Amino acid sequence: MKIYVDDGSTNIKLAWVEDGKVKTFMSPNSFKREWSMRFGESQGVENYEIEGEQFAYDTQAADAEVTTDTRYQYSRVNTVAIHHALHASGIKPQPVDITVTLPLSEFLTSGNTPNDANITRKKSSVKRAVDAQGATNFVVGHVNVLPESIPAGFVKLGELTEDEALLIVDLGGTTLDVSQVKGQMSGITMTYCDPKIGVSMVTDGIRDVMAGAARTRISPLTADKLLISYEGDAALLTTRIFDATQRAAVVERIKQQESVLGHRVSDALERFSGYTHVMCVGGGANIQAVIDAVKQATQVPADRFFVSGNAQYDLVLGMLNMNEEINDENAEG
Ligand SMILES: Nc1ncnc2c1ncn2[C@@H]1O[C@H](COP(=O)(O)OP(=O)(O)OP(=O)(O)O)[C@@H](O)[C@H]1O
Ligand SMILES: [Mg+2]
Repeated sequence: MKIYVDDGSTNIKLAWVEDGKVKTFMSPNSFKREWSMRFGESQGVENYEIEGEQFAYDTQAADAEVTTDTRYQYSRVNTVAIHHALHASGIKPQPVDITVTLPLSEFLTSGNTPNDANITRKKSSVKRAVDAQGATNFVVGHVNVLPESIPAGFVKLGELTEDEALLIVDLGGTTLDVSQVKGQMSGITMTYCDPKIGVSMVTDGIRDVMAGAARTRISPLTADKLLISYEGDAALLTTRIFDATQRAAVVERIKQQESVLGHRVSDALERFSGYTHVMCVGGGANIQAVIDAVKQATQVPADRFFVSGNAQYDLVLGMLNMNEEINDENAEG
């Protein structure tokens, strides 16, 4: 079975084909060292062992393992996170071939050619055996590595001519990956990656306010949930923060940091020119202040500016489309 895995720093996104239909699943990265003790009914697999080290999936851990720096890409906790996502997805444990991602800065050399050393390192990292407590294990066979951001534009790039170019802006939890790719995927003009620009600039702000004003240490995952739900449904904010003044302080900090994030993204885009179309992907594409900033910075007409309603899955779905298309071509040839 083939599974496409966008193993981002904050969430693992999976895509696969089952009964002729494309399925997706998302699993947040929130792991602590050492196993959790189970009480009562089992809630699914949460304890894992890799190379003698133990990790547990724990959504409440305020000291969750850091998954937001580059070293994470090759770490044990990353391999565990992939296995946890597989177990949580409902896919029956079995041997699997997987395609994973590396940030552009890791995937490409400074000359825009694939960085074979890093790709090999990533493959070995993902192939390590992970033992899931109380469950049959997934066994990873073949591993393929793709760059972040570029596959997200795969379908759109097929619709563009070679004279046109797509700017793909992938804003994730911790990293901004931007690539300018020629139509028909005929070449990569330029890429840029800033591992310090991400939605965590907003969620870190939430955690700061909570720790300061509310004297409550919350997990990165809880901060994510507060961010995602603060506008539509105030209920989560109310259950976590009883004091209205503190709630207002959290909302104010969110607005402030969203605007800072928008500025940082638009500054990063200044180095690009000559593109004809723009696409925003990643969890950050759900933030209106970011979209507005990218529109302002790129100035392309509305019919050449794309944001899907499913931006967090665009990369993993692009990976799947790319591979299925390649397979079709192989079948025809
Ligand atoms: N509706 C939303 N509103 C605001 N933020 C959102 C929304 N949906 C997701 N996010 C944010 O997007 C971030 C995750 O995005 P994504 O899954 O693209 O990151 P990632 O791929 O794990 O990270 P990276 O690419 O940096 O390694 C989280 O911080 C989450 O809070
Ligand atoms: Mg990502």
